[in-house]
Amino acid sequence: MNTVFVKTDPERIDEKIMAEAGRVIKEGGLVAFPTETVYGLGGDAFRAESSKKIYAAKGRPSDNPLIVHIAKAEDAGKAGKDIPDSFWLLADAFWPGPLTMIVKKSEAMPPETTGGLDTVAIRFPSHPVAAALIEASGGFIAAPSANASGRPSPTEARHVREDLDGRIDMIIDGGSCNIGLESTIVDLSTGRPQILRPGFITKEMLEDVLGEVELDPTLFKPSAGRPKAPGMRYRHYAPKGDMRIFRGDTEKICARICEELKANEGSRTAVICADDTKDKYAADMVVSLGARDDAKGAAAAVYGILRDFDSEGIEKIYCEGFSEEGYGLALMNRLYKASGFNVEKD
Ligand code: TXA
Ligand code: MG
Repeated sequence: MNTVFVKTDPERIDEKIMAEAGRVIKEGGLVAFPTETVYGLGGDAFRAESSKKIYAAKGRPSDNPLIVHIAKAEDAGKAGKDIPDSFWLLADAFWPGPLTMIVKKSEAMPPETTGGLDTVAIRFPSHPVAAALIEASGGFIAAPSANASGRPSPTEARHVREDLDGRIDMIIDGGSCNIGLESTIVDLSTGRPQILRPGFITKEMLEDVLGEVELDPTLFKPSAGRPKAPGMRYRHYAPKGDMRIFRGDTEKICARICEELKANEGSRTAVICADDTKDKYAADMVVSLGARDDAKGAAAAVYGILRDFDSEGIEKIYCEGFSEEGYGLALMNRLYKASGFNVEKD
């Protein structure tokens, strides 16, 4: 298949491109597009065939449900049913934005889109290109992140191209995604709100609106059971090299990483650290995620960095642990997953 590449400035959207991309989706094709979190791979959420094509293009297991993207909050009533008050409270507070909510699915929503579950994940993204595309294609786009299954999520159009060129109809380049980690997912289908995937909308922000919100205990402890979001069960976001995370006192972890670098001089090595330690390491690649307490800056860069390690043939990756406060929880969750929970505490 020939993949068409187009580009639009999010500040001045090219209506012709949107009309064409909308037509491709309405006719059952697949279009990758930018959102404020990561690039998505979109198809018509109400066409079972489109969802099947998404799984095939990504090489994704078909029991891993897709998120349905809408561009008007009230459209949630067509994708879901028995929608609780908590849903509308959170929609008022955080939509459009990086929050996905799970409710019971409507009869019309095909099981192919929801991975066979009787619930559906719904999100109203704030990125202007995403909103324009959703409108142009009829209002309901099923979209997972636009990476090949198992690779880090794409935060630039060129990442999508690396993974999916020749496998989808179109890629819309709308620049870099400024958040850089996937949306927060909160399950509202059981009466006890639970975070299934942490993200930019933090537990504290959700609790300000709803009162107590739980965290899926498996997020930081795989031994706690099966994660409720099927996608969190797979080894995700993974670079090709072996990755290990070092947690604890900065001086101690810095010394441990230096020891490992010495012991692995024959391998291609990389370190992920913060500005205050970046001059301490002798590795093939040393990448700072920025100031140690700036989770937002760090999160936006991390997937691009993991992809760079792959293209540079890095075999061993040593990563400093960052704070798990607030948005730091989402950053560390993705780093733990990328390492396959290979974590050493000082
Ligand atoms: O930021 C995002 O959410 C991006 C952009 C493109 O919007 N999308 C994204 O989609 O991250 P994906 O498919 O890579 O991740 C969706 C996650 C998966 O872990 C999936 O298992 C979970 O959401 N999920 C979807 N529907 C669900 C449901 N009904 N119940 C539980 N988990 C669900
Ligand atoms: Mg994904």
